Amino acid sequence: MVGGARTLLPVLLWREPIPAGWLPKVMAHLPAVLVDHCHLERKAAAMALGLMRYQALANVTDQLAAIAREELDHFSMLLGLLRRRGIPLGPPRSSPWISGLMKTIRRGGREQVVDHLICFALIEGRSCEKFQILSHALADTEPEVAALYAGLVESEGNHYADYWLMACALDDAQAHRRLEEFLSVEAGLIRREHPLPLLH
Ligand SMILES: [Fe+2]
Ligand SMILES: [Fe+2]
Repeated sequence: MVGGARTLLPVLLWREPIPAGWLPKVMAHLPAVLVDHCHLERKAAAMALGLMRYQALANVTDQLAAIAREELDHFSMLLGLLRRRGIPLGPPRSSPWISGLMKTIRRGGREQVVDHLICFALIEGRSCEKFQILSHALADTEPEVAALYAGLVESEGNHYADYWLMACALDDAQAHRRLEEFLSVEAGLIRREHPLPLLH
């Protein structure tokens, strides 16, 4: 993790719980969700690399590279799981929840960087929360998948903290203010359940 002793955002501060329909949907469409998750890890690696274009983040290039490497490792783990199960890596699909968060990013200047970091922090945070739920829910029926999810929790939790701390280091007051706004947007988005077999 980067930064010093900053306020960490506990995952429990979400304004809306994960809807009750989410877990049954994921359990009923596990192969498709694993494909989606595999693509999400690839996208997470690309997102970390993409942040390197911001000069304001030049001092955390090494951390971003480390995150990208971890996400690519996760991608390989998911790809291996899909191969062992004979599940082809189909095309990526877009999540209304992720698109909604990305649309909230303001354009231009430091605002864009702070928003980008907060957006990624929330994606990592919800992933961390969902992986914990899945590691418990799949323990009896799908021990291999459950173990994979349990193994990802710490890493995604660290990424969530890394991005949040990077946003605070850039502009602490703005990061806290925008976090409040992003949490409201997130609550509205997660309430809108969709039938797509996606992690988010
Ligand atoms: Fe990951
Ligand atoms: Fe991550």
